[in-house]
Amino acid sequence: MRSILGWMNGSTDKGGAAPSSQTKARPAHANGGDVKLDYTSESITTATLAQMATTADPRFKQIMEAAVRHLHAFAREVNLTPGEWIKGIDFLTRVGQKCTPARQEVILLSDTLGLSTLINTMHDKTAVEEATHSSLLGPFFREDPPKYKAGEQISLRDASDEMVLWGKVTDVKGRPLPNAIVSVWQTATDGRYDMQADDDTMDCRGEFSTDANGDYLIRSVRPNFYSIPMDGPVGEMITAQRRHGNRPAHIHFLIGAPGHREMVTALHIADDPHIMDDVVFGAHGDLIAGIKMDQPGCPVPGVNSIKFNFALSVESEADKKCGRVGADPSKIGATAI
Ligand SMILES: [Fe+2]
Repeated sequence: MRSILGWMNGSTDKGGAAPSSQTKARPAHANGGDVKLDYTSESITTATLAQMATTADPRFKQIMEAAVRHLHAFAREVNLTPGEWIKGIDFLTRVGQKCTPARQEVILLSDTLGLSTLINTMHDKTAVEEATHSSLLGPFFREDPPKYKAGEQISLRDASDEMVLWGKVTDVKGRPLPNAIVSVWQTATDGRYDMQADDDTMDCRGEFSTDANGDYLIRSVRPNFYSIPMDGPVGEMITAQRRHGNRPAHIHFLIGAPGHREMVTALHIADDPHIMDDVVFGAHGDLIAGIKMDQPGCPVPGVNSIKFNFALSVESEADKKCGRVGADPSKIGATAI
């Protein structure tokens, strides 16, 4: 077994860090006894990993070991100063403090750093079959939305710029999935979610189900592009990076059918000015849709509509445990490790 003093002094055996070429001789004025516990910028990583080696859960161990290796490598790469370290601590502290049951600044940080889309992209690759791609659940998802019948309007305050969402939910071979649950949420025409209003009314969101032919029909309004909340630390970061902070207009979907992988996705409006530079990278691939008037076959004539067919993969055992990239903000913050 490797001696504790060995890795603390930067010596290596298999897998250990090489002694730093920048290690300096112990200065004459140094205090201390005979035992040397000098960490180098490399051996501190080895020491940390060794102390964490007793972690019981193998997946937690794998994740934390990688987190330490990459975190230490990041600090070495940028030669992080004490002042920059405390500035980062201050930033992350304020990100947490900004969170409320209706606002999730940590998810917003993940989204704007591209991490959420990275997780979704990796998640899509693990599907048993190639289905409609994932997009962000985002920070404005709420559990238990109102339940509606096919064709009912979800915009309660202002339905002046009406639009219809319609199409099928199928498996990847195009076979209809009857009784699939289709949850939808979006901004009102002013670009604001109900959670950003002054009351608790659930607006511009609802739960529908497909009919015997796998068809869904939702009456809504044209969503608008919007700025992410800029009055918090994430907004400060976006401003410092000279990014505009806007998302193209979009409609979120959460679709579930027995035996099939749950789908978290969103449709982004094709002619939106921010379709190419979404601040959270949600608009991509097959998730860009056009709003068209009088589409052939539209169940509601004479209105703007989006026709979109969603294809769901069959569900694997792993899918049952993988969770979502996001959650209702009111449900986050109470789970222990
Ligand atoms: Fe959104």
